[in-house]
Amino acid sequence: MITQAIIPLAGLGTRMLPLTKAFPKELWPLGKTSILERVLKECDEAGIKEVFLVISKRKSIIKKYFDNDHELENKILNNKKAIKKINILKKYQKKIKFVYQNSAKGLGDAVNVCRKKIKSDHFLLILPDDIIIKKNCSRELVSIHKANKSSVVATKIVQKKDVDRYGILGFSKKNKSILDINKFVEKPKISLAPSKYAIIGRYILSKKIFKFLNKSKKGKHGEVQITDAMNELLISGEKFNGSIFKGSYLDCGTMDGYIESFNKIGNY
Ligand code: G1P
Repeated sequence: MITQAIIPLAGLGTRMLPLTKAFPKELWPLGKTSILERVLKECDEAGIKEVFLVISKRKSIIKKYFDNDHELENKILNNKKAIKKINILKKYQKKIKFVYQNSAKGLGDAVNVCRKKIKSDHFLLILPDDIIIKKNCSRELVSIHKANKSSVVATKIVQKKDVDRYGILGFSKKNKSILDINKFVEKPKISLAPSKYAIIGRYILSKKIFKFLNKSKKGKHGEVQITDAMNELLISGEKFNGSIFKGSYLDCGTMDGYIESFNKIGNY
């Protein structure tokens, strides 16, 4: 059973500076709610019971967002509508645990700081730069994992010009929307890419990944890359599936992507 999830939030938000300097983009609105609450709702609906939010001291405002604020609650005591909105956070608060990553050494390192917390064989990893609406992508991944006893990543075909922005997978077989993966490469040049199928930020990973993350050297852009550890896990014999997910993908990882997503989502 997949009951634990990791959501890395300690990144510096450099692509969106200066707007991210004081206010992390994960708390920015997307439609009627924040990017982070969308992802927490997705976890909730996929059966996740415990969520590790990886933050840094710079991002402690995220903790504050979920903390009880008795002073505010006392002031709005008679405003039932406002209280109801605050109570939405309390539901998530029960599942959330904060884990600190104080040096930005990359996504692989952000996952690795949670290694002692993961109890079950496999866990869910969600990157909040990638928002998927209309269908719960994490739930789709969980059901593929259950059926195939595999590690699973969400994937979609991207344009040639975007291949070097993503982790790209190679595959030996495609059965409807499920791929049997045989290779991962982080942000390759198009000439070296095994396909145009990109890893989108939803993963179900075996706990064995920590063995490889512990030994991982810095990869692309001088960071510890989760993709490199996944490739080693694959080579060691772990079965990996790609799921061509059904929902709509909103890229909130760049300023242009965020603006486009915000306009697309409307009130959704
Ligand atoms: C990360 C991963 C990459 C993946 C991407 C999805 O890259 O390293 O493999 O394809 O997320 O958004 P980042 O966008 O953090 O540079």
